Amino acid sequence: MAQGFSREPGTRGPLPDLPPRAIRKITLWAVAIALGGFLFGFDTGVVSGALLYLKSDFHLNSFEQGSVVSVLLVGAAVGSTCAGTLADRLGRRRALGLVGVVFLLGTAVVTFAGGYGTLIAGRVVLGLSVGAASATVPVYLSEISPTAVRGRLLTLNQLMITVGILVAYLVNLAFAGGGTWRAMFAVGAIPAALLVAAALWLLPESPQWLIAHGRAERARSGIAALAGEDTADEIVRRAQQRIEDDRAAQEADSGRKGAGGARRLLAPDVRPALIVGLTLAAVQQLGGINTIIYYAPTIIQQTGLNASNSIFYSVCIGAINLIMTVVAVRVVDRAGRRPMILVSLAVMTVSVFLLGLAFVTGMNSLLTLLFMVVYIAAFAGGLGPVFWTLIGEIFPPSVRAEGSGVSTAVNWIANFAVSLAFLPVADAVGQGETFWIFAAICALAFVFVSAYVPETRGRDAEQIDRALHERFGRPAAGGETERAKTR
Ligand code: BGC
Repeated sequence: MAQGFSREPGTRGPLPDLPPRAIRKITLWAVAIALGGFLFGFDTGVVSGALLYLKSDFHLNSFEQGSVVSVLLVGAAVGSTCAGTLADRLGRRRALGLVGVVFLLGTAVVTFAGGYGTLIAGRVVLGLSVGAASATVPVYLSEISPTAVRGRLLTLNQLMITVGILVAYLVNLAFAGGGTWRAMFAVGAIPAALLVAAALWLLPESPQWLIAHGRAERARSGIAALAGEDTADEIVRRAQQRIEDDRAAQEADSGRKGAGGARRLLAPDVRPALIVGLTLAAVQQLGGINTIIYYAPTIIQQTGLNASNSIFYSVCIGAINLIMTVVAVRVVDRAGRRPMILVSLAVMTVSVFLLGLAFVTGMNSLLTLLFMVVYIAAFAGGLGPVFWTLIGEIFPPSVRAEGSGVSTAVNWIANFAVSLAFLPVADAVGQGETFWIFAAICALAFVFVSAYVPETRGRDAEQIDRALHERFGRPAAGGETERAKTR
């Protein structure tokens, strides 16, 4: 449906008459789908609090503590890689339901773990689930969203990630007194159960997936219930056309029928989307966000402020992250993706450079804190949500799930690499200098985005594809170039 609610490929804008009732219904579905994002955030946040207590229960050394945190990232990289195939074979709805079931299983293993080995096994299972969720949610959201509000519905993913992080910090705070780390993990079963229930009883299958799998009639009746009969016919016709064009490109490219999936991602016509997806996935992490999110209390302590209550500081960071994401959700369909991500990267570059300078020169502690807050706010208002929005939008429908899967896997791998490298690099070259490395990466990302990332707001899949190819200096297959219109 992503490209469904707009008129002819050459024209802009959504159909004006989608009833508010339909928009409300789609928004409810989107919130349910984004529970997958909540699980992602919850798991990111809960482990820091739980670790404080389980390390003494299980007598964990520092390597073991680090592995309890990082095996989740490895599991997530694997989970997101497999998610594309899963979402294509089972459909988006069943794939997401399965994510919920696996999360419940992982939660049970971790909650009742009797020792380090079981704990690690449970964290890997949770990682598989969270990784698969993070790759499936943007695709599913993109395919149920009308063009006019697609940005807003896609940024719900990041909103739920940040809500999940904040809720986890609050859960940590609530259970900190008794040190009941098992209860901290167990709370994750609630959103996971809700996700399974939504997949079973609330969510519709993605119309795009139904049409691609020969069930156009079912897709049509679902769309007709929301948008009316005539509109439904037009949407289905265009989606079918788009899928046929995509398949023709696929066959021409591979020279044989049916070659698809991961191999298709390497086809020349998909390459611009792949380059943009993978680069944004890497820089979203290599810009250093999680070192600030995970190490904020330590950084605060080093500035000389009292950091005795580290969980309390985490809650403040989580709140800023959430507030700015709410702002992003509200403006993304008006301001557009490109300006948001460019402003975000510019402010991140300057603030993390100043943060580094503060460390190198031993600047005033309140100023240091201010730079950190500005950096997090800039990420949350742009690069954070807009990355997840774009990977749901830029890939052609036939490889959307696979494209989102590999981009998400790169995001998790880069997350893992930065978490591993941060402390050793900071020891070797200095903490301030490490922040300068992040500043340099953000600056390069700014240059990349201004050159290669097109605006996707208000555009259907075909227009986005054309705009991407224009940016890479080559016309899209089968379309006349529309430089002025699409850039
Ligand atoms: C990133 C996560 C990060 C979170 C912070 C997400 O977009 O992918 O790695 O922890 O934002 O809000």
